[in-house]
This record gives sequence, C-alpha cells and structure tokens, in this order.
Amino acid sequence: MSPNQALSQALDQIRDDVRAAHAYPVANSAGMVKLDVMENPFRLPAELQAQLGQRLGAVAINRYPAEGTQRLAAALAAHAGMPAGCAITLGNGSDELITLLSMAVSKPGAVVLSPEPSFVMYEMSARYQGLKYVGVPLRADFELDVEAMLAAVKQHRPALIYLAYPNNPTGNLWDADVIEQIIQAAPGLVVMDEAYQPFAERDSMAWLSRYPQLLVMRTMSKFGLAGVRIGYLIGQQALVAEIDKLRPPFNISVLNAEAGLFALEHAEVYAAQAAELRAQREILFAALQAMPGVQPFPSQGNMILTRVPDAPATFAALKARGVLVKNSSAAHPMLRNCLRITVGTAQENQALLAAMKESL
Ligand SMILES: Cc1ncc(COP(=O)(O)O)c(C=O)c1O
Repeated sequence: MSPNQALSQALDQIRDDVRAAHAYPVANSAGMVKLDVMENPFRLPAELQAQLGQRLGAVAINRYPAEGTQRLAAALAAHAGMPAGCAITLGNGSDELITLLSMAVSKPGAVVLSPEPSFVMYEMSARYQGLKYVGVPLRADFELDVEAMLAAVKQHRPALIYLAYPNNPTGNLWDADVIEQIIQAAPGLVVMDEAYQPFAERDSMAWLSRYPQLLVMRTMSKFGLAGVRIGYLIGQQALVAEIDKLRPPFNISVLNAEAGLFALEHAEVYAAQAAELRAQREILFAALQAMPGVQPFPSQGNMILTRVPDAPATFAALKARGVLVKNSSAAHPMLRNCLRITVGTAQENQALLAAMKESL
C-alpha cells in the first residue's frame, strides 16, 4: 500500500463530524492590544514573579502530580467558600470539566440544554460526545426567557443544563428567581458556570446547600491565570465523585498546581486587579455609550458586548489599528453587529476608544 493510501485509510477511521469541523480558532495577537478573550491584562509584580520562579524551580517535576493537586484543591475550596458536605474536583481549565460532564451524562438519547447565545463549548462538547444539544434563545434584552426555558426543560428532560452566571458573551447576570425556577424544574444536573465570578456582584455558591443537583464551576483563568489552566467544580460529594472518575489522573501538572497555590497565597493582589477591572468596566461602558451609534450592554463580567452599525467593518478597522476584539456577529442571530470587548487596563481601554472613534 502506498503512503498516500495508508494515510487516506487512517483518515477514513476518523468520525465524519470531526472531519467536517473546524478547530477552535486562536487569533494571532502578537503586538496587538489584546481585548478578545477576557484575559486579566495584569501580570504579577516583578518581585512576586521572581518568588514564583523560585517556587517553580524547586518543584519535583520528575514525579507525577500527587499531593500538590490535593493541596490546590483544598486551597481553592477555602478560597471559594465551599459549603460543608460538598466536594471539589479540578480540570485543566473549565473546558476540560465541560468535557468530563458531557462524558458523564452521555447515555443514549441524553440532552444537554443551555440558553443561547452562551459559551460555545457547551454545544461543541455535547455534540462530540454524541449528545443532543438544545439551545433556548434568550429574550431580546438577553434575560432568560422563563416560559421558553421551562417548556424546553419539560419537553426535552435534559440530563444537564448549563447556566453561565454571568453569561458569555452577553456579560449579564440572569434573574436569580428565574434560575431557581429552572433548577427546581430540572430533571438532571444543573451547572452554574461562574467563570466571571471575580467581576460579578452575585454568585450561586449558597444554592449548593439547597439543591443537590447543582454544581458550581469556576476557573482561575479570568482571575488572572488563563495560561496556567485550572478549573474547578464544586457540588455534592456523591455527584463530584462520579465526575472525578472520568478525570485523567494527572490532569493538573505539578507546575500548574504550584502556580495556582502561589496565586491563592497572594489572593489580595488578584482581588485588587479584579477591583480595578470592575472600575475600568464602568469607565469603558460610559465612554462607549457616549459614542453615536454604539450600544454597549451592561456587564457583570470583564467584557462588554457592544452593538455597532457594522461589526465586521469595525472589527477589521480596529485590527488594522492594532486592537484585537472579538467579532461575535456571526456566532448567533441575536448577536448581529456585536463586538465583544474585553476590559483592559486604563491605557488599553483608551487605545481601544481612540481606535474605535476612527473605526465606526
Ligand atoms: C462561560 C465560560 N466558561 C468557561 C470558560 C473556559 O474557561 P477555562 O479557561 O477555564 O477553560 C470560558 C472561557 O472563556 C467561559 O467564557
């Protein structure tokens, strides 16, 4: 058999849906003002960088991860205020936890449900696991459509419901009463995805004691460690134990665990960064709102979804001026002409606003 035939036969073994799919796009951002994926723009102060370097240098990288992962899990549980009776498991980012959740509920005919537009990985992960995905449109003001959600829950009996709180890309925190109605109606698991919790004024941790079917998922990414890849999932011990069985045993590297622990030991530095970003969000919101033809949507995250007259043109013009945002226009009909702008430093936001004035 020729090498070409062998390769072609090998490719024929790959699932048709995988071959038809596109890889998750990661934009080239070298040298740009990077306001596209909700990263924390601040780095550690130089002195802490040096201390972290020392700590990482001393880690036994010849060993598989063991106690370090447990220590990080305990530190995250304390940091998040995990309620009594609950347990925690860690993922290589919350992306991995979403994959594990899809695997866990992947029985024939099982349904995953989420309002939309929301985080794209819920659908992508469900489909790759052979699950049916049902998206329920938000209202025009991006609030949950309570009747539509309850009707969809009744009709599809979802094994798993995701509620991003605050939502990505819309940035808002949905009505708490409506969420409770959905949780009460849910026949399966409900995951509150709190990736943007450091920037929000409410969270759902207290509901864990009331609703055993609930899981709260958080990440260290938006907190300031997107490059480190640590997500965590908190819920009833019995439920978390099942998800934990699917976790690759060494999914958190010893270096990641040490960096995560170090960050939590300096949580006050990150808390100050989050406070600065919340303040910058309000300044940026007001400046965007003052621009003719520009409609920013109120946000409890570190991004502002913003409608402009012609999003593809504005996106391209911003990019030409060295500012990278996310063009969300094509992601969902409700996001027509919307850009998702990550809140940056005061300087970055000024650069964005100056470029925006020339790009509308
Ligand atoms: C709502 C939501 N959940 C989860 C994630 C994934 O985060 P992580 O970096 O922990 O994989 C994101 C990333 O943007 C997100 O917006």
